[in-house]
Amino acid sequence: MRVAIVGNGSIGLSLGALFSKAGVDVIILTRSDVKENIIFAESDIEGLSGRYNALFINREREEGIQKILEKRPELVIVTVKAYHLGSVVKRLKELKRRGFERPTLFLQNGLDILDFVAGSVSNPVRGVTGIGAYRKSKNTVFIAGINKTLIGRDEGGKCEEFKRLRELAGLPVEINETPFIERFKAAINAGINPVTALLRIKNGEILEREDAWEVVKRATEETVEVAKAYGVELPDDMISIVRRGIELTYNNYSSMAMDVLSGRPTEIDRINGKIVEKAENKGLNAPVNRSLRRLIRALSPRCTDIFPSDPSSS
Ligand SMILES: NC(=O)c1ccc[n+]([C@@H]2O[C@H](COP(=O)([O-])OP(=O)(O)OC[C@H]3O[C@@H](n4cnc5c(N)ncnc54)[C@H](OP(=O)(O)O)[C@@H]3O)[C@@H](O)[C@H]2O)c1
Repeated sequence: MRVAIVGNGSIGLSLGALFSKAGVDVIILTRSDVKENIIFAESDIEGLSGRYNALFINREREEGIQKILEKRPELVIVTVKAYHLGSVVKRLKELKRRGFERPTLFLQNGLDILDFVAGSVSNPVRGVTGIGAYRKSKNTVFIAGINKTLIGRDEGGKCEEFKRLRELAGLPVEINETPFIERFKAAINAGINPVTALLRIKNGEILEREDAWEVVKRATEETVEVAKAYGVELPDDMISIVRRGIELTYNNYSSMAMDVLSGRPTEIDRINGKIVEKAENKGLNAPVNRSLRRLIRALSPRCTDIFPSDPSSS
């Protein structure tokens, strides 16, 4: 079994380590060169820290593309940030033209991701991951926690292929409807991510600051309301689920906090921005999400439209 993971960031390296640990051949597709074909994983989870083999291929180079065509991985998992999907879509289309296409899972946070990637592969599969991790170098990752990865049903039934993440990578996996999993994850991210990014705090500190927790709760409530307007019923105890999520990732920085701390663009437009847009389309208001979006936009470099402004597109 051979799996290709697009992106050598926190999630890409974590998945790479988990697959490799289970004896799966791992290819990591990058946009820059990585010297050693090793993933260094660090973790408080027993038995996970170690060195794992993975073949790093720079997919920006023609020889990289040739290598992918030669190695013919059986599954592809895309783990770049939502705002970098543009260049990945281009490359997937090119591979498709050259006769290579595989069941492909897109693991970004945010809404409407399948619309962005339409045409890149037949029946793309949507997922959201509960892995909590941060990257320490191009091939070193700290894996803080592993919660459930949700996989969305697709018309072609390709989602079944990704049930194998349980057996191949030891990941807890659940299949559900795509609109549900996207909105469920958005309800978790809509408050935690921007609030931790604005305050530059770890997730757990939200619970130590009453005002911060209040904003997180309101952002979640709005997200639940907007989902309902689209016929997607999120669990009644969404606030408790968010609280549990914070407790489980107490010492982590959210990926948006990490982005802000590193001066990178954030996924705010894919998460809170989309919630605001969807609320407006139904004549609803989502003032907390709108304010969070404005504040993060004011704080971080813009990358508001993944296709035209993706700097790595070529
Ligand atoms: N980190 C978490 O704990 C976590 C938890 C749940 C969900 N998520 C979600 O998972 C997704 C990935 O997050 P992350 O934290 O892993 O992001 P990340 O650490 O920023 O990693 C993204 C990786 O993608 C690479 N990349 C960008 N464009 C590329 C391209 N065209 N081809 C190949 N590689 C490319 C980047 O390369 P460079 O290194 O060259 O920049 C980087 O290594 C996001 O949507 C995030 O919201 C993250």
